[in-house]
Amino acid sequence: MKNILEIESLCKYYGKSSNQTKALDGVTFQVMPGEFLGIMGSSGSGKSTLLNCIATVIKPTSGKIVMQGKEIHSLKGSQLTDYRGKMIGYLFQNFELLDNLTGRENILLPLSLHNVSAEESDRRMKQLASYLEITDVLGKFPSQMSGGQKQRIAAARALILNPGIILADEPTGALDSKNARALMEKLSGLNEEQNATILMVTHDTNAASYCKRILFIQDGVIFHELRRNMPEESQQMFYERILSVMAQLGGGSANVL
Ligand SMILES: Nc1ncnc2c1ncn2[C@@H]1O[C@H](COP(=O)(O)OP(=O)(O)O)[C@@H](O)[C@H]1O
Ligand SMILES: [Mg+2]
Repeated sequence: MKNILEIESLCKYYGKSSNQTKALDGVTFQVMPGEFLGIMGSSGSGKSTLLNCIATVIKPTSGKIVMQGKEIHSLKGSQLTDYRGKMIGYLFQNFELLDNLTGRENILLPLSLHNVSAEESDRRMKQLASYLEITDVLGKFPSQMSGGQKQRIAAARALILNPGIILADEPTGALDSKNARALMEKLSGLNEEQNATILMVTHDTNAASYCKRILFIQDGVIFHELRRNMPEESQQMFYERILSVMAQLGGGSANVL
């Protein structure tokens, strides 16, 4: 099978040479269709910078990002609009819902930018709302929803155009542990049942334990990889392995791994 996403020697430096932050300093990895890949690292390790480069929110300093065989740097005009709207679905830590729109209106927002039939989108919305258990809050405004409900509305918005890949930046970061678990069950279910490709960055070990493969990043460099041994390795066993990598990170001994 072909990779859906290829990241090659990606660098992003902020600021001028005297006061420069190397947020990404030569990151290379690939994502296969149907993967649930996690990128783990502590705060400031470059995770959001990486996702923002892939989402074309910011421009990398150097390196390549190839999505479905196309270098995204070369996309222009309607190709770029399609890439941003249809190829990727973005899930943010802080939901980023519009306060003056209902749940339903928030979910349908991406459709206004793209040619999708009303029937098709209505069908998909009902399906997603049912799966994500948000049918009863579709008519509510974000201020009337719990954090968990807001994030599941945001997930439906990210999924409404059936993107090729879901990018999630600390999606459980603003949720309590019960809602975080509920969200991760849903994301993991989408991956298992619908073969959704997910790239999630997080510093939350529990959230990461739902992934099938994890890359560890520190100071803009990937230094370790874990793959869940399916089917024999339980989620709990995987969690323990992730925890031990993170513990070594905390001790500043990343390069002994
Ligand atoms: N717009 C910016 N200007 C300057 N430095 C930035 C900017 N965004 C992020 N950084 C720096 O780049 C590094 C990586 O940040 P970020 O990608 O947000 O990390 P993470 O998401 O892992 O917490 C940090 O040192 C951060 O301070
Ligand atoms: Mg971040």
